[in-house]
Amino acid sequence: MFLTSIVIAVVGVFLLLMIASFVSGYSLPGMILTRLYNTVGPYVVAIITGIILFTISFFILTQRSIRYLEEINIALKNISQGNLETRVNIKSRDELGELAQNINLMAEQLKQLIEEERNAEKTKNELVTSVSHDLRTPLTSILGYLGLIVNDKYKDELVLRYYIDIAYNKAQTLKKLIDELFEFTKISYGGIKVNLDRINIVELLEQLAEEFVPILDENGMEYRLTLPENKIYVKADGGLLVRVFENLLSNAITYGKEGKYVDIQLENENNETIVSIINYGETIPEMDLKYIFDRFYRVEKSRSQDTGGTGLGLSIAKNIVELHEGKITAFSQNGKTMFQVKLKSLLEE
Ligand SMILES: Nc1ncnc2c1ncn2[C@@H]1O[C@H](COP(=O)(O)OP(=O)(O)O)[C@@H](O)[C@H]1O
Ligand SMILES: [Mg+2]
Repeated sequence: MFLTSIVIAVVGVFLLLMIASFVSGYSLPGMILTRLYNTVGPYVVAIITGIILFTISFFILTQRSIRYLEEINIALKNISQGNLETRVNIKSRDELGELAQNINLMAEQLKQLIEEERNAEKTKNELVTSVSHDLRTPLTSILGYLGLIVNDKYKDELVLRYYIDIAYNKAQTLKKLIDELFEFTKISYGGIKVNLDRINIVELLEQLAEEFVPILDENGMEYRLTLPENKIYVKADGGLLVRVFENLLSNAITYGKEGKYVDIQLENENNETIVSIINYGETIPEMDLKYIFDRFYRVEKSRSQDTGGTGLGLSIAKNIVELHEGKITAFSQNGKTMFQVKLKSLLEE
């Protein structure tokens, strides 16, 4: 602004000098100018004109900026009162224009942050609602059967035993749900510390597969392991990574019993580690596949068969994989269901 006013003043003086040389002597302004020139000298005239022009243009320009500043001030007040839709017009490319732009950016980011916060709040509320429902179901059943026992409402020892069994199983379901819920909230709401290590994923999968042998046997199943020749390392929290594959493997057993085999495959492609856990048998319907990683989501069939699941396993797995900046996907077609975990490989040292 200051510079602009000086430029205007200098240009003004030049113009005045030019005009003066053209009109001198012929007209009234010319006569006045000539007079002034003769009495105080051309330099003084030039300096005085310069100062006058500078003051006028500086005044006009600052007035405009002050009005713009007032506009920005009103917008800021509006934003601070919570009207996050308020935006300032960008009128110039100078510092004030930049200020206006930054204020608009700030308002936009504030708006987004508040929306995210609201969504998180909504998700938490939904979680509480569905959890209360899921906790109440087994609890009601436990209380029902224990009530029968307490009030001696059973025919004989055999019936008593039967009631106790049901109550015990339901109590176990309840414990599983509470454990998984605890794990889920810990992982999803940032309450977990990820300890990254250099993990030999070949070894991890070999060990895990062996640990699953008893459960596989129990269900008349076998694992088939396909591993690459060389070692593959990833940067991960070993304990958390094990949880992912445990969840996938126990699903493959629970939902793939009739398929007899669980395939565990490991590949390394373009510095990406890909672990695939595959089971055979009935496929997951296409319409369910996209919700499979949502918390509490269970395919209708597993719900009605009462496999005792909580619908949290896959969302826990997904959260853990995402904590490692990886990706988890599900495919289910022609009797083959495959869950794939992709992680960035560590380069060989
Ligand atoms: N390997 C699989 N084969 C078929 N269906 C599966 C498989 N894994 C998961 N599902 C389906 O996805 C649902 C969600 O899985 P999950 O989140 O582990 O919950 P849960 O096993 O406790 O039900 C399961 O209820 C089941 O319907
Ligand atoms: Mg599961």
